[in-house]
Amino acid sequence: MSYSHLTKYYKDKRVFLTGHTGFKGSWMLHWLNLLGATIKGYALSPENKEDHFNVIEGSRMCESVIADIQDKAKLEKEIFNFQPDFIFHLAAQPLVRLSYEKPSETFTVNGIGTAFLLDAVRQLSKPCVVVLITTDKVYQNHEWHYPYRENDRLGGYDPYSASKACAELIISSYRNSFFNINNYSSHKKSISSARAGNVIGGGDWSKDRIIPDIVRALNKNEFITVRNPNAVRPWQHVLEPIGGYLHLGTKMVDDPIRYADSWNFGPFAEDSLKVVDLVELAISIWESGNYEIPLLYNQPHEAGLLKLDISKTISELNWKPKFNSRKAIEMTLDWYKSYNENNYSKTKEQIQKF
Ligand SMILES: NC(=O)c1ccc[n+]([C@@H]2O[C@H](COP(=O)([O-])OP(=O)(O)OC[C@H]3O[C@@H](n4cnc5c(N)ncnc54)[C@H](O)[C@@H]3O)[C@@H](O)[C@H]2O)c1
Repeated sequence: MSYSHLTKYYKDKRVFLTGHTGFKGSWMLHWLNLLGATIKGYALSPENKEDHFNVIEGSRMCESVIADIQDKAKLEKEIFNFQPDFIFHLAAQPLVRLSYEKPSETFTVNGIGTAFLLDAVRQLSKPCVVVLITTDKVYQNHEWHYPYRENDRLGGYDPYSASKACAELIISSYRNSFFNINNYSSHKKSISSARAGNVIGGGDWSKDRIIPDIVRALNKNEFITVRNPNAVRPWQHVLEPIGGYLHLGTKMVDDPIRYADSWNFGPFAEDSLKVVDLVELAISIWESGNYEIPLLYNQPHEAGLLKLDISKTISELNWKPKFNSRKAIEMTLDWYKSYNENNYSKTKEQIQKF
């Protein structure tokens, strides 16, 4: 998979990026900046000095609007004034465990926030490519070994997964009702959703995610607490889905009707690993560390087995992952090691090598 074509599509183009202060959004911001795009970001403020957005000095790479996606009037104004060629929507409440503490907020931000964004797109008269980021967790999970395909039934046990499945229904409804491919010549909008697997990479400090948990424990010489050792997830390095979203955007420019659809982005089947296997790989790459599996009771439900079928994306988008799981973990730990040594240019280096 080569990404050399991206400059042609993004240089000097106007890209509206929500969630630019977050983990994935800030990687995307950096990549778009290297491609020469003119970027406006829209998100909440980064919370900590160590947030990836601050590490890369993201505010120098874009016009950074700090505002809530639930502020419909503000969102519409910022999008309308900017007149984007592309919109990538990553802003969300993305954590399963937090969604049990804040269920209605999670539904509002992830579901209604998506509707507000699409309302804003309706105000634009120029052509626009819109990629909305959901997740692999949108599928009704049967805890079986078959990987999920784009036409599998949507579902979601926990509020986060269900909120993203709601977002998918909202996207599909807006696409049918207002951005129907049969009327493309009148509205000129191409709308897609992208469903990625579990993402790992440098600069993620989120609570209750396995890589930040591993790095925090390794840095302090503490045991890594492994909550769900046998849960299987489609792990991938952050550059894989971000590259996938950018590539999808180029396909939608070339053929806005054909590619206005939903797309899975994940690793090859053999790289879906148990959490405990990922932890053991990380320890072997870091060359030190130990883990413990606590006895936990009354934990909120989290999916056990989750695999993603990427054959449609491979055959129709001509996209495929570059890294196996070992390489993805190596790249991730390499980033944190550099960070520990006060080297903050690893993100740029990794994007350029990719
Ligand atoms: N990280 C993963 O493993 C993963 C996997 C699949 C899908 N996703 C999806 O990718 C996207 C980005 O996830 P991430 O891991 O970077 O999360 P993150 O928490 O690091 O970033 C979330 C971003 O959304 C913004 N945001 C949150 N609430 C907001 C609000 N009310 N108004 C405006 N902005 C708001 C935050 O400010 C931040 O910029 C999300 O849509 C998430 O659901 C993530």
